[in-house]
Amino acid sequence: MAVAQQVFLRDAMRKLNLTRDMFSARIGVKRRALDSWLLPEPSHDFRVMPEVVRRFVTEIVENEALLEKYSDAAPRRGSLRDRIAINDKHQLLSVDQFTRDSVEELFYIADIMQPIARRQKVSRVLEGAVLGNLFFEASTRTRVSFGAAFCRLGGSVCDTTGFTFSSMAKGESIYDTSRVMGGYVDAMVIRHPEQGSVAEFAAATNIPVVNGGDGSGEHPSQALLDLYTILTEFSRLGKLLDGAHIAVVGDLKYGRTVHSLVKLLALYRGLKFTLVSPKGLEMPTEIIEAVAQQGNHVIEQTNNLEQGITGADVIYATRVQKERLQSEQIRGYGPEFQINAAMIERFATPDTIIMHPLPRDSRPMANDLSVDLNKDPRLAIFRQTDNGIPIRMAIFAVLMGVETLVQHSMRDVTWSPPTHIGPDDAIFHGMD
Ligand code: CP
Repeated sequence: MAVAQQVFLRDAMRKLNLTRDMFSARIGVKRRALDSWLLPEPSHDFRVMPEVVRRFVTEIVENEALLEKYSDAAPRRGSLRDRIAINDKHQLLSVDQFTRDSVEELFYIADIMQPIARRQKVSRVLEGAVLGNLFFEASTRTRVSFGAAFCRLGGSVCDTTGFTFSSMAKGESIYDTSRVMGGYVDAMVIRHPEQGSVAEFAAATNIPVVNGGDGSGEHPSQALLDLYTILTEFSRLGKLLDGAHIAVVGDLKYGRTVHSLVKLLALYRGLKFTLVSPKGLEMPTEIIEAVAQQGNHVIEQTNNLEQGITGADVIYATRVQKERLQSEQIRGYGPEFQINAAMIERFATPDTIIMHPLPRDSRPMANDLSVDLNKDPRLAIFRQTDNGIPIRMAIFAVLMGVETLVQHSMRDVTWSPPTHIGPDDAIFHGMD
């Protein structure tokens, strides 16, 4: 089975580090034609790419790869799962496991997963495998999307949620819980309120373990889907991530999603980060130092939201992590900290992407990301959540060593999914 043309083209653009405008110019076709080849197949405007274009693009990418091979760049070694392994174990605990090269390889696999995530195809590559979803802290997205991703690859899921209904409430240790679960299931996703706890689970088993969020530590799969969303949106807008301005807003002290995301973004070059937080909720120094050590980035910190988001390419908002506040007296953001339609109108650009890892606190006093942006096509929050499925499928496929089997395993679905999932989805929602 040939690689789907959308996957083929997106991979070529990533390998060549070209925007859609630059790529269409490089291969000598109109941007409109390229856009139509990149649409999902059920779209009205989808067109089949001519075979001669595929051959030409393959030649350009191969020539580029040859140049790279004979340059000083370090050569790739081994499978992706071996390259991101920790102590020879196939686990995903931190974004520190990735390089720019390996993260983009994961995104290539996520692209391959898109027809399954969009319910056009099914696959059974994980048939017989069982996932243990251990969530000792509240979750909707991470728990359900990891479960759905495993099921869509043919596996099945066993869940336990909260301490109350686990034997940890009877004093069982992390070591014992992890060793026992390793005898029941083939992979585990764990969320736990203490930083470093998921690494303890991982040390007590040899099955794949994924960090679904450890206290205010990390949330690597969220950061991966966020970066994938940014690259996808930038591709649509004709922008490159290198050199972009990213405003990260809110509770940067306890927000684990932003800890992972800024480290992952730092793999790119020449970014401007504006870190906007209320006093007392600033980004931890060790993360700022880690980012500052690479990529010629500019990092600015401010308590002034208007100044921080002005002209940004991405505004990434976060909720106050009230469940983690210690001595701080903050109950929610003040109104001057709310990102809403009026503020976006004044300080954002027509191409700014507005993101949030969700959940957003929609209660009036919280002043979290406003619902009055719901119909604004720049709001990418539900495109983010949708991208959680292909990214998490790619993570499982890599950790369980089946990523090369997926393409050949796909067959058509037998039911009819809706063309638009949400009533407010923007017209381009279905685009790559
Ligand atoms: N973004 C995120 O982690 O959401 P949940 O808490 O619902 O899993």
